[in-house]
Amino acid sequence: MGLRLLRRILVPFAAVVLAACVGTLVIGRTHASSAGAEGSTSSLSLTSDSSPARSAEIQEGYQLFESHCSTCHGAEANGSTGIAPNLQGLGPGVVQLWLSSGWMPLKTPSVQPVRKKPSFTPARIRDIALFIESLHPGGTPFAPKLHLASASLAEGFSLYTVNCAPCHTITGAGDALADGYHAPGLHGVTRTEIWEAVRSGPQNMPQFGPKNITPAQLDDIIKYVTEKIEHPESPGGISLGGVGPVAEGFVGLFVGVGACLVAAYWVGDRTVRDEEGHGEGESDEDGDGESDGDGGEAVTSDDASSAEGDAETR
Ligand code: HEC
Ligand code: HEC
Repeated sequence: MGLRLLRRILVPFAAVVLAACVGTLVIGRTHASSAGAEGSTSSLSLTSDSSPARSAEIQEGYQLFESHCSTCHGAEANGSTGIAPNLQGLGPGVVQLWLSSGWMPLKTPSVQPVRKKPSFTPARIRDIALFIESLHPGGTPFAPKLHLASASLAEGFSLYTVNCAPCHTITGAGDALADGYHAPGLHGVTRTEIWEAVRSGPQNMPQFGPKNITPAQLDDIIKYVTEKIEHPESPGGISLGGVGPVAEGFVGLFVGVGACLVAAYWVGDRTVRDEEGHGEGESDEDGDGESDGDGGEAVTSDDASSAEGDAETR
């Protein structure tokens, strides 16, 4: 009896303690709002946040979302409209990437949004991301503060070549992919955007978790892209705006073949002129010796002289 009573009290108590621990851990790890950590899945109640500064940011984000995003993504960012995808649970890093790259907000849905000037300041982007996160925690976090001093450019180069160049090209100029998609150029992307793109894998880009690319390796890649790709030294001469080896090859081909054609035309022109000059000289000097033609003509006029001509040539 006593034991059962104890269990009846202890089990719920343990559950509550466990939930509190997990909640605290989640808050500590993601610095998420307590609204998120308590797992409020769908409610739009923005009052349960512990820090007033954070709830002010979320409130601000809510209003911005309401007027700029909800017509497509739904008032609760869950894609209820059917026009645009569910944003809940993607994580603040994804929202920050899509807004800082100018991909969102869209005016008209298209195959693939293009990079444009961001519509919001970094602080407002953060507000919107925090609001969406407050609806559903988890996903890709904001990029951490990066310290690239000890990152390796050499490692970054080889990692970039293997993992990124197949789509973004070795010069980072970007390239067309299948089905009308393209891998955008990487000139002008920020460290934060690289981190968030690699960790979240937007659209046709694969998602690279820490098992595929470790945090240290990602630092190497970010250092390589922001230092070498965005500021190329062009060791091979003029870079033609970094349009990529294939395009540069074509330019080389056209210029090279063009030069060859001009040279060939010029040489050919001279040869023709030389030959003309030569022919005249020959007929002047040894008219009798070159008697094949003369002999042929002679055949029609005089058989005897043709015989003579033949004899002379032999
Ligand atoms: C005109 C409709 C429209 C508006 C307005 C709009 N979006 Fe989108 N959004 C889309 C569509 C459609 C997609 C799917 C990607 C695509 O087709 O380009 C998308 C994709 C996204 C994604 C990526 C989703 C994923 O699965 O990776 C994020 C994040 C996003 N939008 C955030 C926002 C935010 C934040 C706003 C407001 C500032 C906003 N969008 C405004 C239509 C819209
Ligand atoms: C399979 C092809 C593919 C590979 C491999 C790939 N990407 Fe991408 N990447 C894309 C596509 C497609 C987009 C555009 C996504 C969109 O429009 O939503 C993109 C977008 C990006 C962006 C955002 C660009 C912008 O304008 O904001 C960055 C940064 C980026 N990729 C970096 C990388 C890095 C670094 C690697 C290697 C670790 C990599 N990508 C590997 C296809 C790829």
